Amino acid sequence: MPQKTIPAIVLLLLAAVAAWWFLQNPLKTSTVQPLAEKPEGVFYLNPTERRTPQAQAFIHGQSPTQRQVGWVKLPKVPPPRDANSDPTSAGYLGTDACAECHQDYVNDFQKTAHFHTSQEAQGDAVRTLLEMNRDTLVTAGGKISFQMTPDNGKFSQHLVVKAKENTFSQHFTMDLITGSGKLGQSYLYWNDDHLYQAHVSLFHDENGNRWMNSPGFPDGGADYSRPIEQRCLDCHATFFQWVNGTVNQYRPDNYVLGVSCEKCHGPGKQHVDFHHAHPEADESHHITNPGNLPTERLDDLCSLCHAPAKRLKKPPFSYRPGDNIDDFLEFEQDPRALQGGVHSTNQRLRLSQSACFQQSEAMTCITCHNPHQHERGNSALFSQRCMQCHESQACGKFTTLGKQIEQNCIDCHLPRREDEGTQMNVAQGAIFPLLRDHLIQVYPEISSQVEAQLLTN
Ligand code: HEC
Ligand code: HEC
Ligand code: HEC
Ligand code: HEC
Ligand code: HEC
Ligand code: HEC
Ligand code: HEC
Repeated sequence: MPQKTIPAIVLLLLAAVAAWWFLQNPLKTSTVQPLAEKPEGVFYLNPTERRTPQAQAFIHGQSPTQRQVGWVKLPKVPPPRDANSDPTSAGYLGTDACAECHQDYVNDFQKTAHFHTSQEAQGDAVRTLLEMNRDTLVTAGGKISFQMTPDNGKFSQHLVVKAKENTFSQHFTMDLITGSGKLGQSYLYWNDDHLYQAHVSLFHDENGNRWMNSPGFPDGGADYSRPIEQRCLDCHATFFQWVNGTVNQYRPDNYVLGVSCEKCHGPGKQHVDFHHAHPEADESHHITNPGNLPTERLDDLCSLCHAPAKRLKKPPFSYRPGDNIDDFLEFEQDPRALQGGVHSTNQRLRLSQSACFQQSEAMTCITCHNPHQHERGNSALFSQRCMQCHESQACGKFTTLGKQIEQNCIDCHLPRREDEGTQMNVAQGAIFPLLRDHLIQVYPEISSQVEAQLLTN
C-alpha cells in the first residue's frame, strides 16, 4: 500500500464517524417563524415593536383595540450560536446508566415525581395529553385561542388569532415538559438553542386536567417570549450546560432531565467506570450516600430546591451533594415570604418552625420521605412515620375518634392549603394550587372539618 493512502483512509474513517455522530446527535433547531401576515388590530410584539408607546398603552390596557383583538409576544431572534462552547456532561450519565447494577432502585424511582419533573415532550408523556377531552384553551375575549395538536410524535400549541374576518395561526412545537403533572405541567421549546416557556400550561386538581395560561401570564394574549432562566432548570433538571453570560442559551445536546439519581448522589461516571473495572468490589467507590453525610449536609441537599432562595452566590448546577448550601444560596428570611413561598418550595423553612423538628434530635426530610419510592397519597404510611415518635393516644382526638386516626394524621396536622405564591389567571379569575403546609401543629378549624367528615362516614 502506498505511504499516503493510510493517513487518507484514517481521515475518511474519522469523517465517517463524525458524520454518523452528527446524524445521531443533530443539534435541535426548531426556530420560530413569524406569522406570514400580520393580522390587523393585533399588536404583534416582537422585541422592537414591544417598546413603542402604542404597544405599551396596549399592554397596560389603555388602548381600545385591546378589547378588539389581543396581543402576541414572540421571542427574540437568537444571536448566532457560540461555536466554541464545548459539550461537557460534567460526569453525569442519566438514570439508565444505574439500572445495570441497581435495577430495583431504578424500577421504583421511575414512578416518582422527581424522575418525571422534566422529560422530553414525546411518546407516552404526550399521548396522554392529547387524549384529553378538551384540546382548546380560549382566552377571555375569545379572539385568541390555542389548540393542542399532535405534531410528528411531539405536540404543538397552535395559536389562533381571529382578527376581523381573517384567522391567523402559528404553531409552536413543544420540546420539553416540566412538572410531573401532579399539580400541572409547563412546556418549553427551543428557539435555536435558546429555551422558552410556552403560553399554555396544564393545571391539575381534583376535577382533573385542564389547559390554562402559564402561571403569572395574564389572560387575553399569547406570550411565547418568556425565557427559561437557569433557576427553573436548577430545580427541575439534573444538568444543563448554560452558555455563560446569556439568559437562556444552553447546549441542546447534553442535558440530563429529571431530578435523577445523580442529583442526590453526584455525577456517576467515575463510580460506574470503577465498578466496571472492578466487578468483584462490593464496597462502593466515587459516589455519595447522603445518608452518611452529617444531618446539616443532608438537609442542604433537599434545601437546594425545597427552600426559597433570596440570592444566588454560585450557580446551583455546580452544587454537589455534601457541599455546604450556604456557599450557593442565601435563603429568604422574611417571615411573609415564608408563608407561601416560590410555588411552595418552602418545605424546609416551614418544617423548621415545627415543634417536631425543633424538639427532636435529627429530623430530616427522609424521616418521612423515602426518595426512592413513589409514596404520595399513602396517608397510612405517612402516619406510621409520625408514630415513630408519637403514640396515637397522645393526640387529643384519640378519645373521640379512636384508632381510625392512625390512618391519617396528616390532613389535620399538615393540611393542604392554597399557595398564594403561585397565581394562575384563567378567563374566570385567579386560581391557586393546593399544597401541604409543612408547619406541623394543631389546626383547630381544619381538624373540626376533618373530624366531622370522619364521624359522618
Ligand atoms: C457496574 C455496576 C454499577 C453501576 C453501573 C452503578 N453502580 Fe452504584 N454501586 C455499585 C456497587 C458494587 C456498589 C456497592 C454495593 C452496594 O451498595 O450495592 C454501589 C453502591 C452505590 C451506592 C451506595 C453508596 C454507599 O456508600 O452506600 C449509591 C448511592 C450508588 N451506587 C449510586 C449509583 C448511581 C447513581 C449509579 C448510576 C449513575 C450507579 N450507582 C451505577 C455498582 C454500580
Ligand atoms: C434539584 C432539585 C431537587 C432536589 C435536590 C430535591 N428535590 Fe424534591 N422535588 C423537586 C421538584 C422539582 C419536585 C416537584 C416534582 C413534580 O411534581 O414535578 C419535587 C418533589 C418532591 C416531593 C413530592 C413528591 C410527590 O410525589 O408529590 C417530595 C416528597 C420531595 N421532592 C422530597 C425531596 C427530598 C426528601 C429531597 C432531599 C433528599 C429532595 N426532594 C431533593 C426538586 C428537588
Ligand atoms: C427553587 C426551586 C424551583 C424553581 C426555581 C422552580 N421550581 Fe417548579 N417546582 C419546584 C418544586 C419543589 C415543586 C413541587 C411543589 C410541590 O410538590 O409541593 C415544583 C412544581 C412545579 C410544577 C408542578 C409540578 C407538579 O407537581 O405537577 C411545575 C409545572 C413547575 N414547578 C414548573 C416550573 C417552571 C416552569 C419554573 C421556572 C419558571 C420553575 N418551576 C421553577 C421547585 C422549583
Ligand atoms: C432526592 C434524592 C435522591 C434521589 C433522586 C435518589 N436517591 Fe438514592 N439516596 C438518597 C438518600 C437521602 C439516601 C440515604 C437514605 C438513608 O440513609 O435512609 C440514598 C441512598 C441510596 C443508596 C444506598 C442505600 C442504603 O441502604 O444506604 C443507594 C444504592 C441509592 N440511594 C441509589 C439510588 C439510585 C440508583 C437512584 C436512582 C434510581 C437514587 N438513589 C435516587 C437520595 C436520593
Ligand atoms: C423524629 C420524631 C418525630 C416525628 C417523626 C414526628 N414528630 Fe411530632 N413532635 C415531635 C416532638 C419531639 C414534638 C414536641 C414534643 C411534643 O409535643 O410531643 C412534636 C410535636 C408535635 C405536635 C405538637 C405541635 C405543637 O405545636 O404543639 C404535633 C401536632 C405533632 N408533633 C404531630 C406530628 C405528626 C402529625 C407527625 C407525622 C407527620 C409527626 N408529629 C412526626 C417529634 C416527632
Ligand atoms: C381529626 C383531626 C386529627 C387527627 C386525624 C389527628 N390529630 Fe392530633 N390533634 C388534633 C387536634 C385538634 C389536637 C389538639 C387536641 C386538644 O388540644 O385537645 C391534636 C393534638 C395532637 C398532639 C398533641 C399536641 C399537643 O398539644 O402537644 C399530637 C402529638 C398529635 N395530635 C399527633 C397526632 C398523630 C400522631 C396523629 C395520627 C396518629 C394525629 N394527631 C391525628 C387533630 C387531629
Ligand atoms: C414529619 C413528616 C415529614 C417531614 C419531616 C417532611 N415531610 Fe414532606 N410531606 C409529609 C407528608 C405527610 C406529605 C403529604 C404526602 C401526601 O400528600 O401524600 C408531605 C408532602 C411533601 C411534598 C409534596 C407537597 C404537596 O403539596 O403535594 C413535598 C415537596 C415535600 N413533602 C417535601 C419535603 C421536604 C423537602 C422535607 C424536608 C425539608 C419534608 N418534606 C419533610 C411529611 C413530612
